Amino acid sequence: MNKEEARLRIAALSEELEQHNYNYYILAKPTISDYEFDMKLEELARLEQAYPEYLSPSSPTQRVGGGITKEFQSVAHRYPMLSLANSYSKEDIEEFIERIKKNTEGEVEFCCELKYDGLSISLQYEDGVLVRAVTRGDGVQGDDVTTNVKTIRTVPLKLHGDFPPFFEMRGEIVMPFESFDRLNEERVALGDDLFANPRNAAAGTLKLQDSREVAHRRLDNYCYYMMMDGLEARYQTHYESLMAARRWGFNISNDLRICRSVEEIFDFINYWDEARHRLPFAIDGIVLKVNSYAQQKALGSTAKSPKWAIAYKFKAEEVETELQSVDFQVGRHGTITPVANLAPVLLAGTTVKRATLNNEDFIRQFDLHYGDTVTVVKGGEIIPKIIGVNFDKRQPGAQPVVFTQVCPACGAELIQREGEAAWYCPNALCPPQIKGRIEHFISRKAMNIESLGEGKIELLYDEGLIKDVADLYTLTYNRLFGLTKEIPILDENGIETGKTRKVSFKEKTAQNIVDALEKSKSVPFERVLFALGIRNVGEVVAKTIVAEYHDIDALMKASVEDLSAINTVGETIAMSIRHFFDNPANVALVERLRAAGLQFVKAAPAVSDKAQVLAGKSLIVSGKFSIERDALKRMIEEYGGKNVSSISSKTDYVVAGDNMGPEKRKKAESLGIPIITEDDFYRMIGTAEEANDRNDNGEGSPDSTDPQLSLF
Ligand code: IVH
Repeated sequence: MNKEEARLRIAALSEELEQHNYNYYILAKPTISDYEFDMKLEELARLEQAYPEYLSPSSPTQRVGGGITKEFQSVAHRYPMLSLANSYSKEDIEEFIERIKKNTEGEVEFCCELKYDGLSISLQYEDGVLVRAVTRGDGVQGDDVTTNVKTIRTVPLKLHGDFPPFFEMRGEIVMPFESFDRLNEERVALGDDLFANPRNAAAGTLKLQDSREVAHRRLDNYCYYMMMDGLEARYQTHYESLMAARRWGFNISNDLRICRSVEEIFDFINYWDEARHRLPFAIDGIVLKVNSYAQQKALGSTAKSPKWAIAYKFKAEEVETELQSVDFQVGRHGTITPVANLAPVLLAGTTVKRATLNNEDFIRQFDLHYGDTVTVVKGGEIIPKIIGVNFDKRQPGAQPVVFTQVCPACGAELIQREGEAAWYCPNALCPPQIKGRIEHFISRKAMNIESLGEGKIELLYDEGLIKDVADLYTLTYNRLFGLTKEIPILDENGIETGKTRKVSFKEKTAQNIVDALEKSKSVPFERVLFALGIRNVGEVVAKTIVAEYHDIDALMKASVEDLSAINTVGETIAMSIRHFFDNPANVALVERLRAAGLQFVKAAPAVSDKAQVLAGKSLIVSGKFSIERDALKRMIEEYGGKNVSSISSKTDYVVAGDNMGPEKRKKAESLGIPIITEDDFYRMIGTAEEANDRNDNGEGSPDSTDPQLSLF
């Protein structure tokens, strides 16, 4: 294939894949199989790799993520992002409608919509291409989360049809229940805190630095509002603009209704108050908007919210049920969590049988007694929470709930750490802790030995084949093949259903595990450190530590003071690390893992990594520098970046030297493109020492205090 053929093929594949994406995610009518789609996507990725000059920022391959955002830039909204006035009753709605009718001329239509319980987002399009996605922030300024938003399948990267050259779509980013449940399951395995509801999870996800992880978490987007200069000259109504947006590729809900009376509006509200439990994502109410743009304009807005719209909020459902018993669960760090077993009760669409009681303080706060009638709500409609006790219904002679003093799994006496409400089992050999540590070790972000998931650790532990993570590396095909066991199936509340599932190691499973174990030996040191499961050492902390301590021997010797001196590593983390390595059993474990071939030394950056530093980035150099301008341009290319000659919204950075043209600066500022100094650029590509040398010699531009500096 020659270059021109490659260009044409890339264009055709991109177009075709975007259409399939639209068919699948927006129309829910796929016309090809997932397999065919993946094959075409792979072909496109291969061609883009071979011909990077044809890789477009809106290519369908960008949806898998990969881009890293070190720090989210704050950018000003072109139009402020207002919020909505709230209402909670029929009277509130009647009043709203009365007020609207009094202040407008002619008949009024209301567009009734779902109120998505997520995060509002502003999507900016130029010539049909998504150029920027910004969070609401304080309504005036938000964070640029474009790289992450591009991974959301229902956000069109390129539009089709008669779209205006510049406009903004406002919408909501939500995390569907399915994605939310899967994410929390993964977090259980990692021993990470669970997200309380899909909104928090969506917010946490949008702010992740690694867009590949954002792609993995499967967010969704619904658009509900268009903004541009001269909007009302193009469309007469809000509904009309949404229908146009749907044709261009936006995900616009089918559950919109034009209503003309309080009765019609309340039919819509009452229907969704019940039907919301069948939606695949959370809504927390209904939004009413005056449909006509002329009427909207006449009504105007306050500083906070438009006068032509209102939100009706559903009441959080709550229900009373009996507290039957309390279980105490042991986490991988030994934390004991009390869990209430409740008389099964229907709440917000699902049967609730359990609720977390957090810790001993929580039990005390409610003075919980066995047999109490408790009020349960779903926090953000998902996780059941006890919010009160009906003392009138307490039975005479009811016994108070007493926090266990011994570990329910191994019988060890529990301990409490100073300043913490939690109780811990101090026995590192307590079976749930061992299994928890092994599950964390094999998890995706740690050693990624996922073929060992789904009950297999349980089986191997119960069979006596593994009792710590180093034992995993003694497993061979012959030891694994043929093992089988029935394990209990748990329901969504973690209770045994009475049914069992067979876990078995067939030929392929056994081979996959052996292969995955072998592959895990090349997992880099920072992930191995994270996999060890040291208290308070998450993924990010592990990376920070490895940046300072390049091998485990140096780290094992580091004192609490040494460790606390690392930026962002506080004393708590430092003490956890010291505590871990002060235990000879942990040192012995590390030695066995080292002997098995795991990485305990930081890998030197591969030569080819150099070309990745600025991959996909467009830079423009302007002004005079301490080196020849062409030399600077060569460096940009050497590090994988692209030199461009004129500033557009697609430019990623302007490298500004002395005497940069004022016009260029103005344009860059108006488009919100970061302007960086020569030294910032050297820091970006990791040759900061060179830059410092230059400064020491009295050359180069002065140190910058530009906040954009830490972008990379
Ligand atoms: S319209 C100027 N429509 O609710 C009008 N907002 O409580 C702007 N929201 O910040 C908003 N669903 O994040 C609109 N169908 C919908 C919505 C919706 C959810 C969110 C949005 C807004 C918040 C206000």
